[in-house]
Amino acid sequence: MFENMSWGKTNRIYQIVNQRDDRCLMLAIDHGYFMGPTHGMETPRQDTLKLITHIDALMLSPGILTSCIDPHWRSVGWVLRATGGNSILDEDIDNESLILQAEEAVRMNASGVAVSIYVGAEHQHQTLINLSNMINQAAKFDLPVLGVTAVGKRLSDKREKRYLSLASRIAAEYGADIVKTYYCEGFEEVVTKCPVPIVVAGGARLNTPRDVLELTYNAIQCGAIGVDMGRNIWQYEYPAAILQAVKAIIHGKASVKEAADILESQSVASNCRKPLFEAGDENIKD
Ligand code: R5P
Repeated sequence: MFENMSWGKTNRIYQIVNQRDDRCLMLAIDHGYFMGPTHGMETPRQDTLKLITHIDALMLSPGILTSCIDPHWRSVGWVLRATGGNSILDEDIDNESLILQAEEAVRMNASGVAVSIYVGAEHQHQTLINLSNMINQAAKFDLPVLGVTAVGKRLSDKREKRYLSLASRIAAEYGADIVKTYYCEGFEEVVTKCPVPIVVAGGARLNTPRDVLELTYNAIQCGAIGVDMGRNIWQYEYPAAILQAVKAIIHGKASVKEAADILESQSVASNCRKPLFEAGDENIKD
């Protein structure tokens, strides 16, 4: 799948993607870079430790890596968020710049870096140039780049195949090694029109855990190599249980029914998230 890459880039890619099946279960915990202490991820060090054995890679911001991840510890890949510059208090979140340089990411032993693009948004141009700049920098270090097709607030209804095909293809044309986008009706077309592998984001919390399993299953059936999922894991009552169910679909070829059985069997007290703070709808709607 990742042919024609240098040794260094191939090695880093396979810190993110499981070499046994070329699939990827990436757990996102980078939300704080614009959302602050997001519900379910308030204490990244403790939260991450409980889930890390079930995943291939973490997607996280540089500060969470250096403050919450033990440097002695290395069993998964990490993809560092490299763009930011605003917060949910802004009218929209597309006014982004690079907040991390490739050289710094390599110093932190990153497996890859993630750059968001906001196609069709007010700051489309600058976010595409962010992607281009990072791809040029990263090439010097054989560092993989994950192109993230973000929508922001104003374009949040754009999660449909025509738009996602456009944004994903643009990210690939610039040279992203993997594209992260949203699942949509007709997703197979988005995958087919994108020449590099795709992982899907989960987005805001779905109504039921079965919806999460169906999203994962359908995305894989349509050709995605995996997920880069955050809130639908962290904010579920039993994060380790739903993560294992998602993993069974991605790496174990499980059906939705089989994954739901795993979810049920793992929904036990030891996997239960202990809410530290009260969370209202306003904490989980974004
Ligand atoms: C944006 O907040 C980040 O890139 C997230 O990592 C990404 O959206 C995936 O997380 P979620 O599944 O919560 O959307």
